[in-house]
Amino acid sequence: MASHYPSLDPSINPSTTSPVVPITIDLRSDTVTRPSQAMRQVMAAAQVGDDVYGDDPNVNALEHEAAELLGKQAGLFLPSGTMSNLASVLAHCQRGEEALVGEQYHIHCDEAAGVTVLGSVAMHALTTDLYGRFDLEQLSVAVKPNDYHQPITRLLCLENTVSGCIQEQSHIDALVERAQYHGLSTHMDGARLMNAAVAQNLPPARLVQSIDTVSVCLSKGLGAPLGSVLVGSQVIVERARRLRKMLGGGMRQAGIIAAAGRYALQHNLDRLVQDHRRTQELASALEGIKGLHFDRSRVQTNMLFLQSIQMSALADHLALQGIALTVTGHNTRVVLHMDIDDEALKQIIASIQGFFNAH
Ligand SMILES: Cc1ncc(COP(=O)(O)O)c(C=O)c1O
Repeated sequence: MASHYPSLDPSINPSTTSPVVPITIDLRSDTVTRPSQAMRQVMAAAQVGDDVYGDDPNVNALEHEAAELLGKQAGLFLPSGTMSNLASVLAHCQRGEEALVGEQYHIHCDEAAGVTVLGSVAMHALTTDLYGRFDLEQLSVAVKPNDYHQPITRLLCLENTVSGCIQEQSHIDALVERAQYHGLSTHMDGARLMNAAVAQNLPPARLVQSIDTVSVCLSKGLGAPLGSVLVGSQVIVERARRLRKMLGGGMRQAGIIAAAGRYALQHNLDRLVQDHRRTQELASALEGIKGLHFDRSRVQTNMLFLQSIQMSALADHLALQGIALTVTGHNTRVVLHMDIDDEALKQIIASIQGFFNAH
């Protein structure tokens, strides 16, 4: 399979068996959001310059604003979360060094092992629980002694949210303190950090206050068409800037997309609570349906993970009504986002209930 989220468009994904019904409600991911008219207008009117020369006013402003929001010295705009994580890990680690990372985290599972392939950085995966956590003892045990048979443990990679689960702040703080005790740097894959911030009513900077680098995606719940920002100290961000160039991520008149990112940060943070509310409403409506299971305690932000032996049939039923869902293994992820309003939510609930009533 080429992707976790295969297109339902048969011209792109000929293996799709569903009849061609245009997708009107897309539950595959929050990456599927499309820029609003207001965002498009800002993009169309954006002033631009050549960002590789440091000339693009919107990119410069976005980098500055993101750094400020997250309480760091400097920021760097990158085309994707994957490149942002990669540039960050390579900025922290040299060849032959090692990063500790949760086994289910995106850096470990879903970035084609880029840090190892391109940076010769080993990844040591720590076992995570249902909520994406590992504990202090696991972290300490994983740090290698000073022994030339072993890689040098250099970095701890965290993630928040993990599959929609908020990482408890006191636990993150304790992990970072323990990492620092062992002399490690710390990186946060905060692709959905803003969901965690809004859900806990905490300033985003508080969530990452003692973490060295943080990557935040603008293209998920925040609704920009693409782009991520990496923030940290001036020194580490400049190192990452060189790496971004090396990785082919130096962009020219990038202000058009940076303007979308700025718009997303200015307008789309607080509205994440709507996605969370709708996710809870969906969970409440689905609870008790015979033949459908999910763990309510893991429904914390904008995702829930469904289990049913009839999942493929359910996905086909939804596809016929223009509702897209990707069935993956045991757990099928359902993601709510800004393109799903209350009306769409009603349709989703009615369609799922209808399926199970008939089966
Ligand atoms: C937790 C997490 N980190 C990083 C990424 C990578 O982002 P991108 O798709 O922009 O490369 C994703 C993408 O889904 C993600 O879910």
